[in-house]
Amino acid sequence: MDQTLLAILCAWFMALSAMAACPSQRTASLKPSAASSSDDRLAPPFTPKVFIISMFKPEADVWYRNLPNSGLGNLTARSFFVAGLSMKYPLVHCTSAGDICQATLGEGEINSAASMSALLLSPQFALSDTYFLLAGIAGVNPNHATLGSVALARFAVQAALQYEIDARSLPAGWATGYFAFGTQRPFDYPRIAYGTEVFELNADLRDVAYALASVANLTDAQGPREYSKRYNETGDGRVGATAAVGTPTVVRCDSTTSDVYFSGKALSGAFERTTEVWTNGTGVYCMTAQEDNACLEAMVRAAIEKRVDFSRIILMRTGSNFDRPPPGVTDWEHLAVSEQNGFEIAIENIYRAGMLIVHGIIVGWDETFGKGIPAKNYIGDILGSLGGQPDFGLGSITGGRGVSLGGVDGNTEQGVYESHSAVAVERRGRSRSRRSRHGGRVMR
Ligand SMILES: *[C@@H]1O[C@H](CO)[C@@H](O)[C@H](O)[C@H]1NC(C)=O
Ligand SMILES: *[C@@H]1O[C@H](CO)[C@@H](O)[C@H](O)[C@H]1NC(C)=O
Ligand SMILES: *[C@@H]1O[C@H](CO)[C@@H](O)[C@H](O)[C@H]1NC(C)=O
Ligand SMILES: *[C@@H]1O[C@H](CO)[C@@H](O)[C@H](O)[C@H]1NC(C)=O
Repeated sequence: MDQTLLAILCAWFMALSAMAACPSQRTASLKPSAASSSDDRLAPPFTPKVFIISMFKPEADVWYRNLPNSGLGNLTARSFFVAGLSMKYPLVHCTSAGDICQATLGEGEINSAASMSALLLSPQFALSDTYFLLAGIAGVNPNHATLGSVALARFAVQAALQYEIDARSLPAGWATGYFAFGTQRPFDYPRIAYGTEVFELNADLRDVAYALASVANLTDAQGPREYSKRYNETGDGRVGATAAVGTPTVVRCDSTTSDVYFSGKALSGAFERTTEVWTNGTGVYCMTAQEDNACLEAMVRAAIEKRVDFSRIILMRTGSNFDRPPPGVTDWEHLAVSEQNGFEIAIENIYRAGMLIVHGIIVGWDETFGKGIPAKNYIGDILGSLGGQPDFGLGSITGGRGVSLGGVDGNTEQGVYESHSAVAVERRGRSRSRRSRHGGRVMR
């Protein structure tokens, strides 16, 4: 883009925006000294075709290091400050052509939600046609993939958003101390929804991304292969997790989100089943990380305001460590002592697979991606905020209409879901009626 066009865009933005000041002036003064001076040429609103989202430094560095060799541009050619990003990662980076940008959100649910909200609400961007590639490392389920594998998700499940009682005081026969809000035992369907429990993405776009990424030459190494081999048996000589024993591949399976970095057979098994239950049998847990549902909640809210297109989100995770130990290794040894050696190949494969997706979108823009790939499946959250009836959950709280611009039609009631207080009142009522039936004795 030349200066004149950028000036026109800026004037256009000023005319549209109630904020009056063209943000390029504002951002220039807020810019930390570390930022490149070339961003003076970058007048908002900026319209990248692809936005790469990283969670922490190593996931970002692999793009900065390698993208210049791909012919797609230098991702750090332009760097500028966006208010509200993480203090560890305050800059957004873009290629000089402006068609690829990247931001680092910071790790965990709070950092990623806060950063993503700031990014999507920033007047520096117009992102309604932008594809988002959420690309980070993860814990991997050995039954579906291995260290260095790349998974493309349709569902993201906030698996630990539940009640928890300590494993040392479980009722007899319980497999886990986690049980969903509004329920009384593990694996019953949640009756209370906060709204961030499950997100579903465009399955056709996921399949296109899979096709692009699946020809990647994924890297592998001796270290992770040694550890992976230990999953070849169940411990009693029977054949074990064959997916773990193989070499890294690109797979289609789903992602969980939890701030708690859980690990081990019991917790991973419980959240695997939680994924199945909460997606009504469609989701397959294979990767576990700390940000996806947080990012996607910010994106649903931005999609309600038409700032982003929720059908243009790709969620990719690469396996850096197994979520549970191989036979003969304790949960603690596996998490805290063993060298799994998957970190480096997981980081490298973010780039090797992700670059093919980014490249595919850029070269296929006029033909395919500019127009978009319409979602044939339900997309959005458990509340039906973007319209349609979710194929999981207890039903849309807006009767399938979705929430309109400016929150109009946003239903402030629970719809089919209950609240914690309603469930507590119901439980008190139940115990009162039991007391009267049993002559005042409280039955538990
Ligand atoms: C990318 O651009 C940045 C900022 O101008 C520069 O410092 C860096 O050397 C460039 N990298 C390459 C590989 O050209
Ligand atoms: C993978 O490696 C093979 C052999 O070196 C090469 O022919 C092919 O182009 C590579 N594919 C990609 C996507 O880089
Ligand atoms: C698993 O690997 C060990 C060590 O290489 C080997 O002895 C054993 O036969 C393998 N088991 C299976 C089921 O392949
Ligand atoms: C999902 O499963 C729950 C529990 O069985 C059920 O109440 C709910 O209606 C199901 N949702 C859909 C959309 O099938």
